[in-house]
Amino acid sequence: MSDTSATPVASYAAKSAASPLAPHKIQRRAVGPKDVQIAIEFCGVCHTDLHQARNDWGRANYPIVPGHEIVGKVTALGAEVTHLQVGQRVAVGCFVDSCGTCPSCQSHLEQYCLSGLKATYNSATQDPGGFTYGGYSKSIVVGEHFVLQVPDGLDPAGAAPLLCAGITTYSPLKHWGVTAGKTVGVIGLGGLGHMGVKFAHALGAKTVMITTSPSKAEDALKLGADDVLLSTDPTAMQAMANQFDFLLNTIPVPHDFNPYMSLLKVDGTMCIVGAIGPTATLNSGPLIYARRSVAGSLVGGIKETQEMLDFCAEHQITSDIEMIKINEINEAYERMLKSDVKYRFVIDMASLS
Ligand SMILES: NC(=O)c1ccc[n+]([C@@H]2O[C@H](COP(=O)([O-])OP(=O)(O)OC[C@H]3O[C@@H](n4cnc5c(N)ncnc54)[C@H](OP(=O)(O)O)[C@@H]3O)[C@@H](O)[C@H]2O)c1
Ligand SMILES: [Zn+2]
Ligand SMILES: [Zn+2]
Repeated sequence: MSDTSATPVASYAAKSAASPLAPHKIQRRAVGPKDVQIAIEFCGVCHTDLHQARNDWGRANYPIVPGHEIVGKVTALGAEVTHLQVGQRVAVGCFVDSCGTCPSCQSHLEQYCLSGLKATYNSATQDPGGFTYGGYSKSIVVGEHFVLQVPDGLDPAGAAPLLCAGITTYSPLKHWGVTAGKTVGVIGLGGLGHMGVKFAHALGAKTVMITTSPSKAEDALKLGADDVLLSTDPTAMQAMANQFDFLLNTIPVPHDFNPYMSLLKVDGTMCIVGAIGPTATLNSGPLIYARRSVAGSLVGGIKETQEMLDFCAEHQITSDIEMIKINEINEAYERMLKSDVKYRFVIDMASLS
């Protein structure tokens, strides 16, 4: 029988924006009637983890335990949880609570909760510590509504990045109606981008990888891209003007959107999922003259995340991963900053004691 009382748990945390991640003990809440306690097996490393650990967005609460691509096994269930079993493989993504009653929550769009969703880490909570702690840890306690079921047949380590990189790319592709007959450009071949290419291809679209890295061209084709466009080559960019129904922009830093807008067809949309915050002035000319749109999208709701996991099982889609030990996390962050990851680091939590 697993211990369901509040327990100290081993984790890795950043204690300030300038300090490397290091071992740290946290306290998880006791398992409540609607809670699920999970022993974490694997946790993906998202660029957001790095942004938050280093306070790029100015809202980090230290110590911060990142990690929101969590796969593990149920170790205990609250008395009212009936749809899961101890020992079952489950997953937790980017958020662990929302109000449940606002129009967004009622529409299965918990990520846009009007009362503010509780992110898996760095959100104020009643739990010990006062802020949520993420998946760079041995175990987590999460309300049942926010626990996903990992279908049999999906490799658990390769499935972990689906919980953020996967749903963040799947959701906008579905929302903007990407299907066969559409041409989609995925901008940036990193964790999100490589999943975007896999999904756009699986949905039947003509898929073009738009990258700054010529060395990634061969991989892009293997991942399912039909073509590769080097965004640093103005002639190649011009040759692809007016070709795309949809662009999924995963670039993690503020940048000039304008060169990408001309790639869109009339009525085309570029959806930003990467950089958050102000960007270079957007020229409204290319928008007005072709009724183009710029949009944004945040992860995906719980229902859609389960749909995405089931889609992945059906199409045998997982992330291409490089497994690391927890004590390699700081080096992994440096490599991620150099776009040197193929295409998602995943931490083997057995390496944390
Ligand atoms: N909206 C959401 O819900 C959501 C969810 C998760 C993550 N995010 C955000 O999405 C962004 C991407 O995350 P990720 O984990 O996929 O990051 P990542 O693995 O580091 O990949 C980002 C890719 O963007 C390209 N890139 C990097 N710097 C660039 C620059 N200066 N100019 C042009 N391209 C550049 C690189 O691809 P190439 O080498 O191919 O150019 C790089 O591999 C992060 O900002 C993250 O916080 C948002
Ligand atoms: Zn993420
Ligand atoms: Zn809500």
